[in-house]
Amino acid sequence: MAVTRTISVEHVLERGEKNDLKRTLRARDLVGFGVGIIIGTGIFTLAGVEAKEHAGPAVTLSFLIGAVVAGLAALCYAELASSVPTAGSAYTYAFATLGEIFAWIIGWDLLLEFGLGLATVARSWSGYLSNLFGLPSSLFGEDATVNVGAVVIIALLTVVAVAGIQQSSRLTNILVAVKLAVCVLILVVGFFYIDTDNLTPFIPPAQPAEGGGSVLTQPVVSGVFGLEPTVYGVGGMLTAAAIVFFAYTGFEALANLGEETKRPPRDMKIGLLGALAICAVLYVGVSFVLTAMIPYTQIDVAAPLAAAFTDVGARWVAILIAIGAVTGLTSVMMVELVTIGRIGYAMGRDGLLPKPIGTVHPKWGTPHRMTIIGGVVCAVIAAFTPITELADMVSIGALAAMIVVAIAVPVLRRTRPDLKRPFRVPLSPIVPAVTAVACLYLMLNLDLLTWLRFLLWLVIGVVVYLFYGRKHSFLAKGSTSDGM
Ligand code: ALA
Repeated sequence: MAVTRTISVEHVLERGEKNDLKRTLRARDLVGFGVGIIIGTGIFTLAGVEAKEHAGPAVTLSFLIGAVVAGLAALCYAELASSVPTAGSAYTYAFATLGEIFAWIIGWDLLLEFGLGLATVARSWSGYLSNLFGLPSSLFGEDATVNVGAVVIIALLTVVAVAGIQQSSRLTNILVAVKLAVCVLILVVGFFYIDTDNLTPFIPPAQPAEGGGSVLTQPVVSGVFGLEPTVYGVGGMLTAAAIVFFAYTGFEALANLGEETKRPPRDMKIGLLGALAICAVLYVGVSFVLTAMIPYTQIDVAAPLAAAFTDVGARWVAILIAIGAVTGLTSVMMVELVTIGRIGYAMGRDGLLPKPIGTVHPKWGTPHRMTIIGGVVCAVIAAFTPITELADMVSIGALAAMIVVAIAVPVLRRTRPDLKRPFRVPLSPIVPAVTAVACLYLMLNLDLLTWLRFLLWLVIGVVVYLFYGRKHSFLAKGSTSDGM
């Protein structure tokens, strides 16, 4: 069957050796990139929103659940990224194990995740900027008809991303340092404003969802088990876990940098697990401090952390947080853009996307066309689409890709037991199976509308594949060379 043809691991490794991308990144840069893309809108905005709307102080547990699921997935990514270092990450792993159509679907899904992730964060960046400088919300806020701030920041960052990975990496490292400093500031200063009364009850009792909740906007899991839609309680905490999973998305982007890493076997696992561990500790700490500082019912959903410090009378901290959010969100967008370029590069060289789209610029060493296309499309989406409609799509897209990566681990162990695996997932296939089930369970806690939109995107993807990729794939041409 043409659609289930696979590429050989040797082929992936060999072309990694002779690619046009420059090998400049070390483990330290990878951790920086990871933290740069992981910490963002999830903690600066969604933590407060979800505490108020679904979980109360138990949003801390939601972040803990997200950390466990993301950690499991990172183990699977680490095994594949260290043994098959490649620019395509999950897309290429699927190509080497499950077959071409799965690879295409995953690539398509990753474009959704990173594209909409970029749009979400650009809008949230624009909101913080308006908050910091008192800019008109009719141009920079969620009520803007055309969100000018989001468009401008995406345009600027597209130019930097096209100019080359070295510049992007250096800029990202500076922005990451500022963001980490702000998170530590929140933990240290916030500690002095903790009021334990705000933490009881830690899991607020479940209440019926407003208006009974429409079928489309209730979690799929409620429908599956015939449960009443509720907010708060354990169900609310799980819904929040699925939504704040957005906060962990992005670490997979590191696996796309395999061909630009100096020593992939060692650096990849340090990068993936190190970045995730740092973020998990900060998320759990910051969400705990936030819900302990003020009653969850009084959280400001526009700028939760800054507003909480203003409320307790520490305005100077609020200003520093807003500055940290604006700079921190910039580094998230930067890595998302770089990743979009890498995925286009990987899909273009395999012929599943038109090859010129993914080619690397001879001087800048970056897939400039794909990066520009990604920037333009995302700027248009960010101009018109509300954050709330974008974030759930990112979570569902990321979780779906993680399921495929989890399945690819035992499949590749069976088909290629001989492969060198510098990092091995413990207890395979049990841990990969648990990872896949945990991701699916979180996906089921998202609402039906999100599922329908996601399935629509996949259907469009399959149609594009049947009419373009299937015929233009380099495998269809009977060649094992990518012609680079
Ligand atoms: N994880 C990233 C964020 O929270 C996408 O902004």
